[in-house]
Amino acid sequence: MRYGHFDDERREYVIGQPDTPLPWINYLGTEEYFGIVSNTAGGYSFYRDARLRRLTRYRYNNVPLDSGGRYVYLRDNGSGDFWSPSWQPTRSELDAYECRHGLSYTTIASARGGIRSETLYFVPLRENLEVWRVRVTNERDAAADLSLFSAIEFCLWDAQDDATNYQRNYSTGQVELVDGVIYHKTEYRERRDHFAYFACSEPLAGYDTQRGTFLGPYRGWDRPAAVERGQSFDSVAHGWAPMGSHHVRLSLAPGETREVIFLLGYWENPRDAKFDPPGSQTVNKTLVRPVIERWLTPEAVAGGFAELRASWDSMLAVMQVNSPDTDTDRMVNIWNAYQSMVTFNMSRSASSFESGIGRGMGFRDSNQDLLGFVHIVPERARQRILDIAATQLPTGGAYHQYQPLTKRGNNDIGSGFNDDPLWLITGVAAYLKETGDLSILDEQVPYDNDESAATPLYEHLQRSLRYTLDRLGPHGLPLIGRADWNDCLNLNCFSETPGEPFQTTENKDGGVAESVFIAGLFALAARELAGIAEACDRPADAAEYRSAGEKMAGTIAEHGWDGAWFRRAFDYHGNVIGSGENDEGQIFIEPQGMCIIGGVGVENGMAVQALASVRERLATEHGIVLQQPAYSRYRVELGEISSYPPGYKENAGVFCHTNPWLMIAEAMVGNGDGAFDYYRRINPSARENISELHRCEPYVYAQMIAGKDAPTHGEAKNSWLTGTAAWNYVAITQWILGIRPDFGGLRIDPVLPAAWEGFSASRKFQGITYDITVRKAAGVRGRVRHLMVDGRRVEGNQLPPAPAGSVVRVEAVIEE
Ligand code: BGC
Ligand code: NOJ
Repeated sequence: MRYGHFDDERREYVIGQPDTPLPWINYLGTEEYFGIVSNTAGGYSFYRDARLRRLTRYRYNNVPLDSGGRYVYLRDNGSGDFWSPSWQPTRSELDAYECRHGLSYTTIASARGGIRSETLYFVPLRENLEVWRVRVTNERDAAADLSLFSAIEFCLWDAQDDATNYQRNYSTGQVELVDGVIYHKTEYRERRDHFAYFACSEPLAGYDTQRGTFLGPYRGWDRPAAVERGQSFDSVAHGWAPMGSHHVRLSLAPGETREVIFLLGYWENPRDAKFDPPGSQTVNKTLVRPVIERWLTPEAVAGGFAELRASWDSMLAVMQVNSPDTDTDRMVNIWNAYQSMVTFNMSRSASSFESGIGRGMGFRDSNQDLLGFVHIVPERARQRILDIAATQLPTGGAYHQYQPLTKRGNNDIGSGFNDDPLWLITGVAAYLKETGDLSILDEQVPYDNDESAATPLYEHLQRSLRYTLDRLGPHGLPLIGRADWNDCLNLNCFSETPGEPFQTTENKDGGVAESVFIAGLFALAARELAGIAEACDRPADAAEYRSAGEKMAGTIAEHGWDGAWFRRAFDYHGNVIGSGENDEGQIFIEPQGMCIIGGVGVENGMAVQALASVRERLATEHGIVLQQPAYSRYRVELGEISSYPPGYKENAGVFCHTNPWLMIAEAMVGNGDGAFDYYRRINPSARENISELHRCEPYVYAQMIAGKDAPTHGEAKNSWLTGTAAWNYVAITQWILGIRPDFGGLRIDPVLPAAWEGFSASRKFQGITYDITVRKAAGVRGRVRHLMVDGRRVEGNQLPPAPAGSVVRVEAVIEE
C-alpha cells in the first residue's frame, strides 16, 4: 500500500493522506539554519547545532505522535469552526489534503468547508530564517470572515537544559514585542548577541507569547483557547514557556486569495557591536530590522524560493542518469543525492530518531558521509575534512564525535573506536579522486584543535594508518578497542566469571580483542593512501603502504578466513567470532563486504565464496541481515550487540549501511545481477508499494529494516541520518553504473544486470561535462574494455584529460 506518489518532474514526494504510518519528514535549510518538518507540520528549528542553538521546542516520543511544530490555525469567524490546515494538531477532518516534500522545502495544502490553504515552508539561501508563506482562498459563494493564527513554542536555546532544568528555566524566559514582531530574547541579557524573532506580514489583530495563556489551562495544541474564542490574549511571557503566535483577520470575497508571510529567524549581533550596552534588556534591532522587512514581501519570498530551487537543480545536475529502472533513476537523480546532502549537514544529530541532543558529528560517520556529496559541494567537503582532521589526536586516534558549533572533539560516548582514523583516509581519497586538489594534503591541520601541534594533512593520514599498525593483536589483526564500525560489538567487555557484568572502562577499550573488519578496512585504507602518495609523488611511501596492505591481506587469509567466509573477530579471550565454530553469530556481513572492497580474496576465489555464503545465509527479501544466527541471549563477552532482541539493529537486523558494501563486492567480482538485486531490495522507492510494512518514508533510506528473526520483518526504522545514504549512492553510481572517480580521471566501468541494454548519464567532473552512453546487448555480462571519447578510441576504461569547460561525448560498449 502507498500513502502518496513520486512527482519526479517536480522532484517532490506527494503525500496524499496526513496519517502516514509514522511522521514522514523533510529538512529545511542548506547552510546554517535548519529545521525538520513533517507532513503535518511537526518539527523544530535550530541554528547550526541542534543541541546548543535550538530555536523551537519539540518533545520526542510524544503522544499524540509528532505534536509540536510550525502550526497555523484557521478559524471561520462566522461559525466558530477552527482547524489545522496541516491536519495536526487539531486533526479535524479535511476535505482535501496534500503534502509535497521537495528539496529543502515542503508545502502542505488542504481544504475545509470551502476554505483552501497552502503553506510553503523554506529557508532562503544565505539567510538564517525560515519563511512560511500561507495562501488562503475562499472557494465559497459568499464572503468569508476568517482568523489566521500562527503558533510556535520557543526553546530556551540549549535543548538538553531546556528539557530538564525547570527550576531555572521557568523563570528565565523573556520576549519582547515591537511593531508586531515577537523577539525571543531569553539569555540575551548576559550574552548580548543572539535572539530569535517571529514576524508576520499583516497588521495584527492580536498576539500571544505565553503558552499557558494561549492554550488555556490543561489544554493542548489541538484546542488553544485563543483560537477557540477567535481572539488572542495579547499575553507577554515572563518566565514559564515563551511562545509566538500572531492573530490575523482575513475577510475574503468569493474566489479571493490572500497571501500571509510569517518569518521565524535567528539573529546574532556582532559581539563588538558598539550600539549594544552590556547587559542591555532590549534586543538591538538595528541590523535585523531590514532583513525582516525584506523577507516579509511576496517578491522577496518568490525570488528566494526560485533561487533555492535553482540551486538544487544545479547541485543535482552534477550527476544525472537515465536507466531502464525508474526506482534507480529517481534515487540517483533526486532523493539519494538529497539524503546524502542532508546527512552531510546533520550528521547524526536531528531526525525523528535522533533527538538533536544525543550525538554531534561522528568522526567515522562524517568521513563516510563525504562519499555521497563530495561531487556536489567539493569545497564544503574540503572544509569538512579539515574540521574533522583537526579533532584527530596526536596518536592518530580520534574522538568518536565532535560538536558542530565548537568543532571540538568530545568524549560523550567514549573513544577508542579503532576503525575511526582509517575512515579519514577513505574520505580524503574520495575528495582527491573527485577534485584532483592535492593542495589539501599540504594544509596545516592541528591535532585536538591545538594549533601549536599542527602538521600537514598528509601526516594526519600517515598517523591514521600507523595507529592501526601500532595496535595489532595476538593474531596480527588490528585491535578492535571499544568497537569498530559495529558500535555494539564490544569484545573487550569481558568477565572472568561468566554471567558477571563487564569490568572497567579501561578493559573495554584496551583489551586484546581483534577485528577482521578493521583488517579489511586497513587493506582498503593502505591502498588508498598508497594511491594518494603516488599522486603527490612520494613513491617510497606508496611502496610502504602497499606492502602494509598486502601484509594485512595475508594475515586475513591466514587468521580471518573461516573456510567459506571471512571471520568477524577474536574476542578478549581469543575466541573466534563469526565462525562455523560459534553456535550463534556464525557469519557477519561486515567483513565479507569490507575485506572484498579492500581487495582481499578477489583474485583467488575467496571473495566469490564469501559472497555465495552471504547469499545463502544472510540475504532476505528485505535486504541482507547483519549476522546469523541472531543472538538469542545476552552475552557479556560480546556486549551491546546481544542486548537487542533478535532481528533488530546490530543483532541480525538488515543494517542497511552494510548492504552497499555487498553490492560493491558483487560488482567487483563482475556479478551485475547480484549487485543490482541487492540494490533493489533496500531501495526505498522500490519498496514504496509496501509502505504499510516499511512504515518509514519511501523517499529516503532508513538505517535499519527488521531482519528475518524479528516479528516485524521488513519494517524500517531510523530513517534519514545514516551512512546508508552515501554508501548506496557510491554502490549504484560508481560500481553498478560504474561512473567512478579515480586518481588520474573518471572511470567508466559499469557492471550491469544482464537484462539491461545500457543507460545514459551526464556527469560533471573537474570542470568537464561528460555525456555518457553505455550500451550492451541484453543477456550479455561483461565489462567495458575501451571507450570512444568524442569519436576517438581510448583503450581501458579511464577517461583522458580534457579542457576545462568542455562537453565530452563518451560511448562505451560492454562486451562479454
Ligand atoms: C546503536 C548503534 C549506534 C550507537 C551510537 C547503539 O545503541 O545500536 O547503531 O551507532 O548506539 O552510539
Ligand atoms: C550507527 C553509527 O552512527 C555508526 O557509526 C555505526 O557504524 C553503526 N551505527 C553501526 O553500529
